Formats: sequence, structure tokens, C-alpha cells
Amino acid sequence: MIHKTSPEVGGMGHPIKRKEDLRFIQGKGNYVDDVHLPGMVYGQLVRSPYAHARLKSINTEQAKKLPGVLAVITGEDLAKANLAWMPTLSYDKQMVLATGKVLFQSQEVAFVVAEDRYTAADAAELVAVEYEELPVLVDPKKALDPDSPVLREDREQKNNHIFHWEVGDRNATEQVFQNAAVKASVQAFFQRCHPAPLETCGCVVDFNRATGKLTVYMTSQAPHAHRTVFALVGGIPEQNIRVISPDIGGGFGNKVPVYPGYVCAIVASLTLGVPVKWIETRSENLQSTGFARDYHMTAEIAADRDGKMQALRVKTLADHGAFNAAAQPTKFPAGLFSICTGSYDYPTAFCEVDGVYTNKAPGGIAYRCSFRVTEAAYLIERVVDVLALELKMDPAELRRKNFIPASKFPYKSSLGWTYDSGNYEAAMKLALDKIGYAQLRKEQQERRKKGELMGIGISSFTEIVGAGPAHTFDILGIKMFDSCEIRVHPTGKAIARMGTKSQGQGHETTYAQIVAQELGIPAADVSVEEGDTDTAPYGLGTYASRSTPTSGAATAVAARKIRDKAKKIAAYLLECSENDLEWEPGKFFVKGAPSKAKTIQEIAFAAYTNIPPGLEAGLEAVDYYDPPNLTFPFGTYVCVVDIDKGTGEVKVRRFVAVDDCGNIINPMIVEGQIHGGLTEGLGIAFMQQIDYDESGNVQGGSFQDYLLPTAVETPHWETDKTCTPSPHHPFGAKGVGESPNVGSPAAFVNAVVDALSHLGVKHIDMPIAPWKVWNILKEKGITS
Ligand code: CDP
Repeated sequence: MIHKTSPEVGGMGHPIKRKEDLRFIQGKGNYVDDVHLPGMVYGQLVRSPYAHARLKSINTEQAKKLPGVLAVITGEDLAKANLAWMPTLSYDKQMVLATGKVLFQSQEVAFVVAEDRYTAADAAELVAVEYEELPVLVDPKKALDPDSPVLREDREQKNNHIFHWEVGDRNATEQVFQNAAVKASVQAFFQRCHPAPLETCGCVVDFNRATGKLTVYMTSQAPHAHRTVFALVGGIPEQNIRVISPDIGGGFGNKVPVYPGYVCAIVASLTLGVPVKWIETRSENLQSTGFARDYHMTAEIAADRDGKMQALRVKTLADHGAFNAAAQPTKFPAGLFSICTGSYDYPTAFCEVDGVYTNKAPGGIAYRCSFRVTEAAYLIERVVDVLALELKMDPAELRRKNFIPASKFPYKSSLGWTYDSGNYEAAMKLALDKIGYAQLRKEQQERRKKGELMGIGISSFTEIVGAGPAHTFDILGIKMFDSCEIRVHPTGKAIARMGTKSQGQGHETTYAQIVAQELGIPAADVSVEEGDTDTAPYGLGTYASRSTPTSGAATAVAARKIRDKAKKIAAYLLECSENDLEWEPGKFFVKGAPSKAKTIQEIAFAAYTNIPPGLEAGLEAVDYYDPPNLTFPFGTYVCVVDIDKGTGEVKVRRFVAVDDCGNIINPMIVEGQIHGGLTEGLGIAFMQQIDYDESGNVQGGSFQDYLLPTAVETPHWETDKTCTPSPHHPFGAKGVGESPNVGSPAAFVNAVVDALSHLGVKHIDMPIAPWKVWNILKEKGITS
């Protein structure tokens, strides 16, 4: 049980308004493109129009002659400084600027620096690149064909296969399948999509020749990790590098990797000795920075006739594009994909994944996702519905029958994960009751009789968030803990700094609430600062819903360290033994004599003015928290759709989302996170795909083709919650930010398939655009 503080203190559970919104809603945010430094110049990338071509020559003469142009950097120039290639997060390497050949459309070929942005753009047009086109591979299955051209000539391995990875018991699973009474399978493609944050990626790099200090203002979700990478790759002493991530307009994983633009801007500033700004355009962002998903998956379930699931088998082809730059910090090449057994108690399972190179942009970032959990959750929730169809069983009933029972937690899955806590049935019951499931099924029968198309989709997903623990997670060897440092000032106000970095999640508010909860200092009196590597303690950043499980935990532990010291000071001030003191948020008092008390503010003042003998002055603490396990939030989403038979248009009539992220810091912020993630899930399910034509041209490189849901398409989200605290987290919380993006695509797709299942439809790949549904209806003779 969490002690509820007063609204004035605003600890955990209070829906206090976001502190940061004061500046955001007034247009006073400070984003990277708002940074203007004296003498600043601008960089522009020259990009390849071809998806696969040999670079015959690059002529920069005309560009250099344009007045205002200061430099044109090519891959050959970078090669001289050993910087033409850089390491990726997945232990591959990636070209910074192309040398030899280009491997995807929009690949970075040269970097032009000029006095203003327009001149840089004009000069980029004048860089004359001669290409010799090569055969293009966009289909990962074809890329594995032995006759296919080898894309990565730099590798010793002369094919396009990156890795094979498997987990689970292949033979035991095979045996269960041989003897299974019922089998169900689905082939599901989780399309390539893109987080498309409101703010694109960019940086301002300021190398000061006099001090040797390199300051990089950048759109970074992981400023410390980027600082270390710049030090290791660029050979710059780490103490001379300061990475500052100011306000960030959405990241969703897109701002985790190091992109060539950052490196080029650093090289340019080091070379020219002036600040260099590089900001992507929208098309550059969509076409060249980290994509997400692109998983071609097959799942099969073996079950008995009563619907008891006995085994799961999963086979996947992962399209990584030209370089394996997947943002995944585990020792497993497919990240956390082996969470694909989901919420179900499978005695046996086997999962294998093969990674492949194609002529597409690199990435494989975890778009609001814990390193492939979204793909896994979608797959399992899809195939469970296919099994329900096979068995002619209600999908809710089938789920209920197979859920990991609440009594079995902590639960060790057949693919190796130990789930911390869960109560799946309670979440599903609440969601079904809230939406009126039984009544809706009756309505569906009635409507079917009238020839109308209505569907109900359920997704009972399980998540896996909060990377570390350090023994399983690292970024280029750096262990995945996270941190918090708290300093209490003499007047009882405080500043807290973390190794994470908000991109809009409201950290300035929620971390202050954790301090308020633990110390009783009002959240309004606690300022939170992230994103400056010169001041914040080292951390691995924010993505994959890890802030609450890691830095959130570190904040509570650091506050408790402060409380321990405060107790010593209180005992001194009250002239009693520490053992005689009791704590309630905000003060220590003498047991049995509540009026004999010292508030945290009085104690803070004494820490600087009336220090007990033998104790250091000051009141501050730091904690680097290595979580003992991940946290496993979960939920049930139920979606109701109506389909227009004439146009194939799907209308989401209702959507109920029940989430369980354990104890909640700020219910209003959590609700906002759910709304945002569901809206992204809607976009993925119905509108979005970064597709390629046969020549490797990007078909989704602008918002004309890559559609974002607006208020017009977005339904009213109905949210609710259950609360199953994490047993190992200091205040029982689990992450939540990515849950709605992870859990919702299956609910949408299951609803559409459910609406069409009586016509024999078992699966439709996302994005479910009206034309796809219309074609099915035409094929089934429902529309003409
Ligand atoms: O790492 P990221 O901040 O994206 O994800 P998160 O830890 O899931 O947190 C997202 C937002 O929800 C943060 O502002 C958290 O403090 C808040 N949150 C909360 O209030 N209660 C929880 N149990 C989990 C998150």
C-alpha cells in the first residue's frame, strides 16, 4: 500500500498538472532548432537517389565554388580520419558517408556546410555524383536466395544473411505438434513503420578551439551513451564532450541511434572551428532514420480440443535493411521477441528468427516498444484469435482458459523470462464488463442476420519493460542501470537529476512526485533536470518504457538515502535516539509524542546550519539502480468496429483499454500516455507503412503517403486500470508508455477479422486500408 500524501505535497497517485506544459503551451520550449549560436553555420546532406549503386565519382568543385559554401565532406574525406564507418548498436557497422557504393535510397553521400541553410541546400544540388545502378533487393526472402547479389561486400560472409537465433525446445515442440488434436497458424507481416516524431532529428555542434570543449546539442534519447560513443569512435577525451538534449519533440525510439548527420556536423565543427547546425527535413526523417518492425512472422499453436494450448512455434524473417542498426541492447539478436508466448501458460515453445540485409534504410528501432515486444504481442494475440476461429470458441473464453493464473507468479515462461506479477483475468474481466461484451456479441449476431459487418477484437497483451538488468542488457558494453541524484537545498527545496531524458512523457512532474512521496517535499518544490551530461549522473536514457523501472526506482532509493541521513539530523535536533523516531512523509516525530517533530524543511536547514557532530554537511544522495528483473505490465484492450460494405472503410465505434502498470505515479499522465499510444496504434493498424517499389524507391517518404491519425480519425478512448504492483520495484511500479502501442494493433486487426470471419477471413495484414477490405468484400461477393 502506498501512503497517500496530501494534494499540497502531491506525491504518488495525484493527477497533478504537468510542470513542463507551462512552457510548452506558451511556445516557450527550447528545442534543438531553437538553439542559435554566434557564428553558426549550416550542414546539408547529399543523399542517394538510388537504392543500390556503385559510386563512380563525386565531384564537389561546383558546390565549393558557390559563394557562402565553407566545406564539402565526402566519404573519402572521412575515411582519412577513419570515420567513414561507425559501429551500430547491434555490433554491425554502418557507413557515415558512402564509399564504394550506396545501399539504400536516401543514403548519406556527402555533407555540405554553408553560411546559411539555403546556400547549403543549393550547394548540395551542385554536388555531382556519378552512380552505376546495381540490382536491387527489397524482398528479404529473395535476399536469402543464393543467386541474389551480395549487398554487403565489406563483410567476410558472402551472402545477405545476418543472424540465425533460436530459443526454446525445438524437438519437444515438434513432438507436441505431431500429436496435436488441433493446430492453428497465421502468417503475419508487421510492416515497416516509422515513429515520425513531431520534431525531426538534428543537432548543433559547437567545438571551441580555445578550450578544446565539444558541446553537442542534439535530439538524443540517450545523451550519456552518445557522449561515450563520440569519445570512443571519435577519439575525443570524454571530459571534453558535453551532450545537451534540450526539449525533445517526441522520440519513440527514433532518437536513440547515432545518425550520420550528427557525425558529419561534429566533423565539420571540429574542422571549421565554428558551430554547425544540422536539422533533418520531414522526408529525410521518414526515409533515412530508424524505421521500426519489418518482421515477417509465422506462428503456430498446438492445442487440445477443449482449447488448452500445448505448444507455440514461431518462425520469423527480420528485414534489417542495409546495415543491422537495430536498437537492441540485449545479447539476443532479436531482442525481447521471445516474450512471444504472451499472457499464456505454454508448457512448450520454440522461436527462431533470421535477420536479413536488403536495400532499405537501416534501423530496427524500438518504436514505443521494448526491442521487438510489439511484434511479439501482435503475433501471439493474432494467432490466439485464429485458434479461437479454428475451435469455434469465443476468443475471450479461449484466453481465459489459457492465461497464466495469478497464483503462478513469479512465472517462468517456456522461453526463459520470469514474469514478475500479473492478473490477466482481472484485467480482461474489467475490460469485457466495461464494454458490455456479452451484449455486443448478441448485437453482432443480429447485425449479421441483416448483412451488416460488425466486429469485436480483444488483445490481452503482456509487456516486458525496464531494461536492465545489467547482466542481460548493455549498449556497446555499457551496462543498463539508470540513475538519480537529489540535492536538498537549505530552504528545503530540491533539485533532482536523472540519466534518463523525457521526450514529452512528463518526467519533470512525475520524478518530482516520487521525491515528494519519499521525502514529503512538495512536488512543486522539486525541480527535475535531465539531458545535460555535464550535470546529470550517468545513465542510459529513455526508451522502451524504462524510465520508471530504472531511474524512477533510483529516485526512490536516492530519496531513501537522504531520509536515512535526515533521521540522524532529526534525532540530534530532537535530542533522542534514531530508534525513537517515526517517519510520515514530510517529518520525523517521536514515537508516542507526535508534536515532538522536525519537518524535512527544518532538517534540511539544519543540514547546512546546525550539523550534528561527526556528520558531513549537506543533504544529498545519488543512486545507480540496476533492476533485479524487468517489469511486466499488461492489459486487455477491446475494440468494436463497423465496416462500410460500400467503401471498405472501418470505423472504430468503441475502444476500451484496461492497463495494469502496478502502482501509478500520476494517473493523468498515465492516461495521456495511453491515449497517445493508442492513437499511434490506430495509425499503424490502418494507415501506415514505409513500403518500397521494386527499384527500392521509398513509398511513404512524406506525410502525403505516410498518414498520421488526426482528431477526425481518432475515436474516443475509454480507459481503466487494475493494479498489480511489481514485487521487485521499490514502489511497485511498472513502465507504461509503450503498452498502448504494443497492445493495440492486435485489438484493431482482431476486430476487423472478427467482422469478416463468417466469410472465411482469417487474417489481414496491416495497414488495413479501405481498399484492402473492399477487395476482400468484392472477392466474397459482398460488394460489387
Ligand atoms: O521511459 P518512459 O518515460 O517513456 O516510460 P514510462 O516509465 O512508462 O513512463 C511514462 C510516463 O508515465 C512517465 O512520466 C512516468 O513517470 C509515468 N508513469 C506513471 O506515472 N506511473 C507508472 N506506474 C508508470 C509510468
